[in-house]
Amino acid sequence: MSARVWAVANQKGGVAKTTTAVALAGLLAEWHQRVLLVDLDPHASLTSYAGIDPDSVQDSVYALFDTPPGVDLIRADVWPGIDLVAGAPALATLDRRLHDAQGLGLVLASWLRDLRDRYDHIFMDCAPMLGILMVNALVASDHVLIPAQTEFLSLNGVRRMARTIAMLDRSRRCRLSWLVIPTMYDRRTRAAPQTLQALRDEFGHRVWGEVIPVDTQLREASRAGRPPSEFAPRGRSVQAYRNLLAFMLADAQPREALA
Ligand SMILES: Nc1ncnc2c1ncn2[C@@H]1O[C@H](COP(=O)(O)OP(=O)(O)OP(=O)(O)O)[C@@H](O)[C@H]1O
Ligand SMILES: [Mg+2]
Repeated sequence: MSARVWAVANQKGGVAKTTTAVALAGLLAEWHQRVLLVDLDPHASLTSYAGIDPDSVQDSVYALFDTPPGVDLIRADVWPGIDLVAGAPALATLDRRLHDAQGLGLVLASWLRDLRDRYDHIFMDCAPMLGILMVNALVASDHVLIPAQTEFLSLNGVRRMARTIAMLDRSRRCRLSWLVIPTMYDRRTRAAPQTLQALRDEFGHRVWGEVIPVDTQLREASRAGRPPSEFAPRGRSVQAYRNLLAFMLADAQPREALA
């Protein structure tokens, strides 16, 4: 058994990255899959979602970039079947502190390599900025999920991600698979169908064929500190995440090496 590793990333903020990571993890745990969530955001919303105060976290993912590393960073069962590596505000200082160091893009990848046997799926929740942590997540992942709010201006965020992935692909001589997930789709607005069409026109088959609808139950689930599938199992957004997961598991191809 070797885990599939997914980065959830978009250089744009507030597009449902953290929500998507928790929603998918919750569904997988219900199917008795072993899941690890890694919070790579200095704002640590995922950590807060799990009921942990990021300001009190000592053993965050930051420790991996420190010497000597080694403390056991994994918090078991923050939700049934779901483990967490917490984020913390200190992560914001990494780029400045490690500015000149070599080989830092591989820190997360080499740590996860030893963990792959323990999990079926690993999700990394990225902060909305390109820095050392996002590069680490992209290098460590088999697939990238790019949630994109179906609102005007969301195209720019996806374009930036596509450029970042292309740049990494060139330097690493491989092709990372990525999928755009249209989120917060409100069919009563004009922006939603127009943005969806624009995403499909520009990114074609890389855009998932369905959408995650706007659904206030997702916000309520996070306020309650519970995965959406447990909070509102029959909610429409949970059903959409179920469909997304079925698509991801059937479709996702591993990283291709370029000739
Ligand atoms: N489909 C949806 N319908 C309605 N609200 C949603 C939906 N998905 C997420 N939200 C809400 O939108 C807000 C932003 O979502 P979330 O925190 O997941 O985004 P993010 O991309 O992780 O943000 P950040 O870039 O700040 O990390 C949250 O309050 C969340 O509950
Ligand atoms: Mg987030």
